Amino acid sequence: MQAYTARAHTNIALLKYWGKANEQLIIPTTSSISLTLDEFYTDTTVVFDQHLNEDAVFLNDAPLTGKGYKKITDFLDIVRQLAGISTKAHVQSTNHVPTAAGLASSASAFSALAGAASKAAGLDLSLADLSRLARRGSGSASRSIYGGFVEWERGTDDTTSVAHPLQEVVDWDIQLLTVIINDQPKKVDSRGGMQHALQTSPFYQNWVDATNAATVDMKTAIENHDFQKIGSLAEQNALQMHATNMTATPPFTYLTDNSWAVIQLAAQLRSKGIEVYATMDAGPNVKLISHISDYHEIVLALQSVLPDVETVAATPGPGLVVVAGDEI
Ligand code: PMV
Repeated sequence: MQAYTARAHTNIALLKYWGKANEQLIIPTTSSISLTLDEFYTDTTVVFDQHLNEDAVFLNDAPLTGKGYKKITDFLDIVRQLAGISTKAHVQSTNHVPTAAGLASSASAFSALAGAASKAAGLDLSLADLSRLARRGSGSASRSIYGGFVEWERGTDDTTSVAHPLQEVVDWDIQLLTVIINDQPKKVDSRGGMQHALQTSPFYQNWVDATNAATVDMKTAIENHDFQKIGSLAEQNALQMHATNMTATPPFTYLTDNSWAVIQLAAQLRSKGIEVYATMDAGPNVKLISHISDYHEIVLALQSVLPDVETVAATPGPGLVVVAGDEI
């Protein structure tokens, strides 16, 4: 059978997905809104091969085993079921997401896998169907099918829980600066963390209500290129998400002292007239939503607080691309 290769870029949630209403189908409790990034992506080649007795999965040239392998074969089972085949697949995936950046590579990984595996299995899915399929691998992957600003509508079932683009071409001044915080707290993966917050935080419902209200405002802000509104809504939503973790039983947090130092620095810079807002995901790194033109000033300010700090800058990126063959 024909090999197909897909490239998908990762995305950063401005309004977060944090909790599943349906764990099996990955239906979230709220809609979420993200920005796809240009710098970080995954390339994945898939070919279904009659000679294989089991799926062969390689990540960055090394065979994948254990939990990671199981997630991929479970996902391939969904693709096989859709295509009505039982053939095993060879999957070769390369992540161009700096591991230290702590940006979720699962979003680009499952979006690229959905694109390459569905084509290689003989399916010709619409972008909406690819988004539904990618969602089954990792919720945030549903958004990486599209470029620019994207909304994943919560929905209530497999059909209605799907992403759609809000603004695919972002030709105005917005960048995401990832501040790499090296001190790692105890690892809680997003899958476990979000359900723990949902089940035990008395503030969880407040977070859902606040996110629903912010979704309407965020869409208007994106339409109007209202940077200040986008940034302040994103920062508020991130802090609210992390508050559900800190108020869970037992409580936990992804944020460290250095994360807080950067969050506070963003507020200080704003008081000096530099528009910069912080957002954080399931890890200690802080991502600063800022103007490209303020890059040097922000890095200098960061260095005064955290002298050896490393940063990675990214601007808005494109949606999924799938081509025949094993090179893109
Ligand atoms: O898609 P997952 O299971 O990796 O979860 C993503 C969770 C956050 O990154 C914290 C928020 C989001 O919407 O991307």
